[in-house]
Amino acid sequence: MPGSGLILGIETSCDETAAAVVERGARTISSVVASQISTHSRYGGVVPELASREHLRAIVPVVRAALGEANVTLADLDAIAVTSGPGLAGALLTGITYAKALAYARNLPLIAVNHLEGHIHAVLLHEREKEKSELAPYGAGQGPSGSLDAQSLALVVSGGHTHLYLARPAHGAWHYTLIGRTVDDAAGEAFDKVAKLLGLGYPGGPWMDALAAHGNAHAVPFTFAQIKPKVHLGGKPPRTKAAKTAPIAHLDPRFLFSFSGIKTAVLRYFELHNLRPEAESRREALFTGPDAPAQPTAEAALATCDPLTLDLIASFQHAVIGDLMKKTFAAAEALGAARILVTGGVAANRELRARFSAESARRGLGIAFPTLALSTDNAAMIAAAAWPRFKNNEFAPPGLTADPSLALGQ
Ligand code: KG4
Ligand code: ZN
Repeated sequence: MPGSGLILGIETSCDETAAAVVERGARTISSVVASQISTHSRYGGVVPELASREHLRAIVPVVRAALGEANVTLADLDAIAVTSGPGLAGALLTGITYAKALAYARNLPLIAVNHLEGHIHAVLLHEREKEKSELAPYGAGQGPSGSLDAQSLALVVSGGHTHLYLARPAHGAWHYTLIGRTVDDAAGEAFDKVAKLLGLGYPGGPWMDALAAHGNAHAVPFTFAQIKPKVHLGGKPPRTKAAKTAPIAHLDPRFLFSFSGIKTAVLRYFELHNLRPEAESRREALFTGPDAPAQPTAEAALATCDPLTLDLIASFQHAVIGDLMKKTFAAAEALGAARILVTGGVAANRELRARFSAESARRGLGIAFPTLALSTDNAAMIAAAAWPRFKNNEFAPPGLTADPSLALGQ
């Protein structure tokens, strides 16, 4: 019944159609994610037109499933929340149009949520669930534990983003300041491109994660150069797809990321060691050939990798995580953040979790991740992020539309 604090979240920003019911930003009642991996995997990346079409197909059954699993009807909801950006325009529009229609038809308030804020709330939601919060409303000093409301440094690291934010709660709302970001590719995008080059599946992160454990992480000495944005970009916002959502001129260069260089270094190693024939036969054995299995596994991929390839994968992953750590911990120290939140698809990586956790413990800093299921795109994080907005009566205007390059914070 209305007043019970139930929000239906809808997320369609990229290649996952997701819906979830979350209670007061603190308890996931249901979370349904329909992945489009099988649609896009043969292209080695997301095809925007196909993504929109798949969202159109999936949105009604996914929302129904989320309500069904939660054992509620639309009449039980207090609000509907939807991702309004950043993301693919057509994909976002499917979710927004559906959410608007539903809200209008049921006379429910509609809340627009930034996808990146959603990722940050995936961590907060998990923490509230862990603490078995008694559904306390949150805001400064009101949260179920002091640590939940501390000023945090959030690293959002996914296929579309590698952004550092300072996140702090005040007056019942969360406030974000952009501290750093990638000037070109996102870290997840680099994982995906290297995996594609090596004939592995899409998305590449989980394949690389599984195979990296079998290689020598110190075999290939990848390095990251210090970025000088003013020289490099003339102080202008970067133009790449992944880097459109905010200008960088005012950011401290120590907290800027760049993953295009390591991609080139990987390609050089790949060519130098003549790994292309092996990658091509791997792609055929696992995905495109007549004997390719219906569901290729990392074990099957491992059997096709020689030690040079495994060393390349392990060294690449080790170097990317090392760079993410270096800049995140430097920013946390410079800003005096009490703890670190790491979220987004790449936060599912096992080596990343282990190394970030060990370094935080060494420095006496708090650290938190979402559950594995809520690391990648989902709608529970959107419903959770909407709760403080619902409490503050911050509703979407009737003319809400998709904003593919929506920025978060200043
Ligand atoms: O958050 P997400 O689902 O979508 C975006 O908002 O982009 O993140 C997807 C990204 C992909 O690039 C995928 O390769 C990466 O997260 N990813 C991983 C792992 N699982 C997913 N990267 C490294 N290790 C993983 N275990
Ligand atoms: Zn995402």
